[in-house]
Amino acid sequence: MTMAVDPPRLLAFAGSLRRESFNRRLVPVLVEGARDAGAEVSLIDLRDYPLPVYDGDIEADGMPDEVFRLQDLMAEHDGLLISTPEYNGSMPALVKNTLDWISRPTAAGPSGTTLFRGKAAGIVSASPGPLGGLRSLLVLRDALAKLGLVVVPQQVAVGLAAERLPETGVLVDERMREGVHGVGASVADLAFRLKGARDER
Ligand SMILES: Cc1cc2nc3c(=O)[nH]c(=O)nc-3n(C[C@H](O)[C@H](O)[C@H](O)COP(=O)(O)O)c2cc1C
Repeated sequence: MTMAVDPPRLLAFAGSLRRESFNRRLVPVLVEGARDAGAEVSLIDLRDYPLPVYDGDIEADGMPDEVFRLQDLMAEHDGLLISTPEYNGSMPALVKNTLDWISRPTAAGPSGTTLFRGKAAGIVSASPGPLGGLRSLLVLRDALAKLGLVVVPQQVAVGLAAERLPETGVLVDERMREGVHGVGASVADLAFRLKGARDER
């Protein structure tokens, strides 16, 4: 007998705080792909979750509320959609720092890494440079996999972003738009299956 599965919920964010961020402009395309494939998506702005650089003393003195808020969000969602910049050939400290804080013990006790395990993820990047932040995707893919997320194989690096992303949600290169949309759709499909498997257990 086939059991109906509720739509998966995905958490989306851009890995940049900059108001005119190209990744902030790109992430709605990723979100649209996931929504068109049936997922429910919460798009958050990391400006609303300001965190210090990870410091064990800050954690020992009392976890910042923003960490618990992000951990609660991760617990409520079945996967991640991330559009990341590239800094010096790697992912920005903001993205790694956010993942590191979430991975710390939750208010209830268990390691925050349990919040990621077996969930779906999809990644894209945007840069004004010609390679579009491709190298940051390699590093981010590896970091997410180490946290136990299942990252879909498709990814898109949007180069020449100043021309291709003139405004939020508008990616003028049609082939790339389809690619980014497709990453979102693939994450939704994978999240459906992974969530179904979790629910059956
Ligand atoms: C510290 C730093 C390092 C950067 N390194 C790279 C790089 O390695 N590759 C690249 O394509 N762009 C690099 N850039 C340029 C960023 O791609 C550009 O600032 C981009 O607009 C950042 O993403 P955002 O628009 O989403 O904020 C770097 C920018 C900064 C501030």
